[in-house]
Amino acid sequence: MRIDKFLSNLKYGTRKEIKALLRTHEVIVHQNRVIDPSFSIDPTTDLVLIDGEKVFYKEHIHLMIYKPVGYLSANHDTMHSVIISLVKEPFDRFDFSIAGRLDLDAEGLLILTTDGNFAHQIMHPKKHINKTYEVMLDKPFVHQNTLLKGIMIKDGYNEEYFAQAIEIKKDKEYVTIVIDEGKFHQVKRMFQAVGYEVLRLKRTRIGNLDIKDLKPGEYVEFERNELE
Ligand code: URA
Repeated sequence: MRIDKFLSNLKYGTRKEIKALLRTHEVIVHQNRVIDPSFSIDPTTDLVLIDGEKVFYKEHIHLMIYKPVGYLSANHDTMHSVIISLVKEPFDRFDFSIAGRLDLDAEGLLILTTDGNFAHQIMHPKKHINKTYEVMLDKPFVHQNTLLKGIMIKDGYNEEYFAQAIEIKKDKEYVTIVIDEGKFHQVKRMFQAVGYEVLRLKRTRIGNLDIKDLKPGEYVEFERNELE
């Protein structure tokens, strides 16, 4: 890959700005100063230094992030804070896809990945990846058998579908539910369908990934094979 493309992909500037950067800063590859923007590097093996600082690069990055309440599961928005704004150096130089959105008023585990294909796979209904949610309802819950048997609810396109809980644990109005899909407002709509309002919703697990001791806004890298 050309060095100007490599640095521009990592948000060091436009191609024109990179051309200037190569002239005004010391960019080193294999102990040699690089000035030619068309100089070719292999990003996976070559170490690039700018003024003595290593350029952080990985082909793909996967992050588990704790989405706080009030953040939108989006890259940009004019009204609300977005989850991507919480990602800091050196990861903020990469473009992330969001796998499995959470509602604005929901919190918990969200996956950000630079691998669009991986994001797509995580969300694919055929994959049936288990997701665990802890919810607080408006009253003590007694309808676990109905949700374990399954009910018909509507998706984001107003189409009816069969939604079923895989596992339910409860302590009065506090319920932990596992489902293996992720349709629009699915958890809220499942509880609504049997007469409850979800007052708080937190996703704690996706596949084998657990939110563990992450705090709101914190994130940690994971490897693709850790998901399932
Ligand atoms: N189900 C919901 O209703 N909301 C979410 O954010 C996630 C699952």
